[in-house]
Amino acid sequence: MATKEEKYTSLLRAAQSLLSGERDYIAKMANLAALLHHEFGFWWTGFYRVSGNELILGPFQGPLACMHIGYGKGVCGTAWAEQRTVVVPDVEQFPGHIACSSESKSEIVVPVRKNGTIVAVLDIDSRELNTFDDTDRVFLEQLTQLLHPEEAEIWFAAGCFWGAQKFFKMVEGVISTEVGFANGDTQDPSYQEVYTDTTGHAECVHVVYQPDVVSLRELTELYFQIIDPLSLNQQGEDVGTRYRTGVYFNRTEDAEILKEIFEEQQAKFGENLAVELLPLKCFYPAEEYHQDYLDKNPNGYCHLGPAVFELARRWRKLK
Ligand code: SME
Repeated sequence: MATKEEKYTSLLRAAQSLLSGERDYIAKMANLAALLHHEFGFWWTGFYRVSGNELILGPFQGPLACMHIGYGKGVCGTAWAEQRTVVVPDVEQFPGHIACSSESKSEIVVPVRKNGTIVAVLDIDSRELNTFDDTDRVFLEQLTQLLHPEEAEIWFAAGCFWGAQKFFKMVEGVISTEVGFANGDTQDPSYQEVYTDTTGHAECVHVVYQPDVVSLRELTELYFQIIDPLSLNQQGEDVGTRYRTGVYFNRTEDAEILKEIFEEQQAKFGENLAVELLPLKCFYPAEEYHQDYLDKNPNGYCHLGPAVFELARRWRKLK
């Protein structure tokens, strides 16, 4: 039989893939409660959301529960006020415990944080005494972090942005993508203007991702697999400075990692790379009809081959 650690480890993976890419916080709480409840067979599993000076019942699995809990009240209010996970081996022994059901014997309450502030708590009740320990605490704290994941962004110029957007959209851990024009000299250019190749802009994909699912290194290594890094101002059949390759960043800490990857790639190819590595100077989203172009036009032009998309789809399973 699987140990508790094993169950949590596979549940964490399932939750990561289920919740990544989903931005609706209530939907995520609902499915996380369902996953936990059914995997472990708890008595009650659910969330209370911070609203003013009280907690209000959120998505849950199990029998009816009280709907409002005051700050500092019960186990839930205590976890919120003390800003820590509270493990209760025997609810009878916890002063001020709020008994929504007499069946509940032990309990754990984990704060849910968004940018460091507690916005909800995850409450789990068991019908047995002493159900929860440090293993539950560690895994449940990791699981609740999935509700408000850290986000980071990076800009990849990889030739024609239609195929590049389709590629990055498929990578697990990528939250959203947008195509546009980057690091040129004119303000808010149109596609037609950029097409003249006189604006200095590069066709580019803005990628917003979850660093705890896909790292900047992993994304950039994938990027190098979809470009010809030695080709200057040309990718596939597309020629012009607008089709140049480049990685543009907005955080100084990213510069270090990227520099390291570029050096590795350079050593691998043994020649100077034609790929730019620069801070993002500007990015202007392209017209709506260019966004998700290949979803809207499945037979549209694409300079990338099918194998490349298979790589995006499968990279996490392959690693
Ligand atoms: N026992 C909790 C109240 C919520 S129910 O367990 C669902 C508490 O003391 O805060």
